[in-house]
Amino acid sequence: MMRSLASVTALCCAAAFTPQPIIKSNHRSNNKYQAAPSSNTANYAQPPTILCIGETLWDSLPSGLYLGGAPSNVAMHLSSLLSHRDSVAIVSCLGKDQLGNEARRRMELKGVRTDYIQFHEDWDTGMAIALIDNNGDATYEFNTPAAWDGLKMNKLLSALINSEEGKSQCTIYIMGTIAGRLQSEKGATSASTLSTVRNNAPNGSVVLDVNLRSPWYGSYKVLALARGDNSSRKLALLKLNDEELVILEGWCGLTSDTNELTGSALQDRMKQLAVLLNTQRICVTRGANGAALWCESADNNDIFHEHTGYSLDTSGDSDTVGAGDAFLAALVNSLFVRNELPGKALERACALGGYVAGCRGATPDHDDAPLELREIFQHEAKRQQLAQ
Ligand SMILES: *[C@@H]1O[C@H](CO)[C@@H](O)[C@H](O)[C@H]1NC(C)=O
Ligand SMILES: *[C@@H]1O[C@H](CO)[C@@H](O)[C@H](O)[C@H]1NC(C)=O
Repeated sequence: MMRSLASVTALCCAAAFTPQPIIKSNHRSNNKYQAAPSSNTANYAQPPTILCIGETLWDSLPSGLYLGGAPSNVAMHLSSLLSHRDSVAIVSCLGKDQLGNEARRRMELKGVRTDYIQFHEDWDTGMAIALIDNNGDATYEFNTPAAWDGLKMNKLLSALINSEEGKSQCTIYIMGTIAGRLQSEKGATSASTLSTVRNNAPNGSVVLDVNLRSPWYGSYKVLALARGDNSSRKLALLKLNDEELVILEGWCGLTSDTNELTGSALQDRMKQLAVLLNTQRICVTRGANGAALWCESADNNDIFHEHTGYSLDTSGDSDTVGAGDAFLAALVNSLFVRNELPGKALERACALGGYVAGCRGATPDHDDAPLELREIFQHEAKRQQLAQ
């Protein structure tokens, strides 16, 4: 990556949005890429511990063709954050075409397991073509149906959720709401696969990333996926942005008479929504203003943290594509893999999200981040591993 990071402005988590001194960047370019392994379940000794489920597609932008899809981006970032190889897998459906093979190859280069990927008999690999209007705003045109609409609940996937010993092989299942866009129209199967995973995965193991993309969503479907069909199986985490918060509140019949996005007013809003949506935790991202995390607790003293975020001061050649996905990967790694406290997890997530928002593309190399940010989002053990 040739982009130079001019400087970093770190905003700390004090109540006021006080900018901290500008930090010099530490740009590294000695990227070491490994050859992709051939993908075959037989090559792995263990099942993965984290599954990212949903769309893998190509984003066609004026500047090039980029691999994307929220769950795929999350998987690639997670793979860069984890200390153990082979622990994160993508579950998606690709076309039997050149772009499908290339998507799989690139995931493997990023260290993501692809042995649970499916290939569709008839449908092409997904593509989102950005149409840029005179104001520079993008709208997207998707090929429909695309292979990622045809994800099936096959034997491999069922065995992960419910092994022969009757227990889940994975500890965390990460899914978004986009892959279910067609429901069962045109023979699509992804929506039913997502809800099967949601309803059969253990209590507190599913992370749901709300992504509302017109015209592809309906309130009933999104709410059903969040709540599940058994109220004693809660989501581990529901992630949404500030705009989606208002929309979901509306769907749940909550009328917040305040649009407060900070402090106890926000805490109350998140708590109310968490109860109605059957989730143990809620995270609301606020664009350049960081994020907030609410967590239930057994003694009813719910936990609430806010962070005002980090931003890279770049020379302009950046886009926010993938920032939310990177944020989610860091949050999941910290909360559920490293078992850290929520405040720490939020800080790490803001650091990685802030880095990616200041870069071009959704999956910039973590090692290219300024050291000051890397020290926040990357765990000590991982940095030592990389230094060797
Ligand atoms: C709900 O899930 C729990 C386990 O999480 C199970 O014991 C219970 O039987 C389920 N209830 C229904 C109605 O499926
Ligand atoms: C699921 O987890 C919640 C805590 O978030 C707990 O109260 C509930 O009893 C659990 N359900 C089952 C079936 O264990």
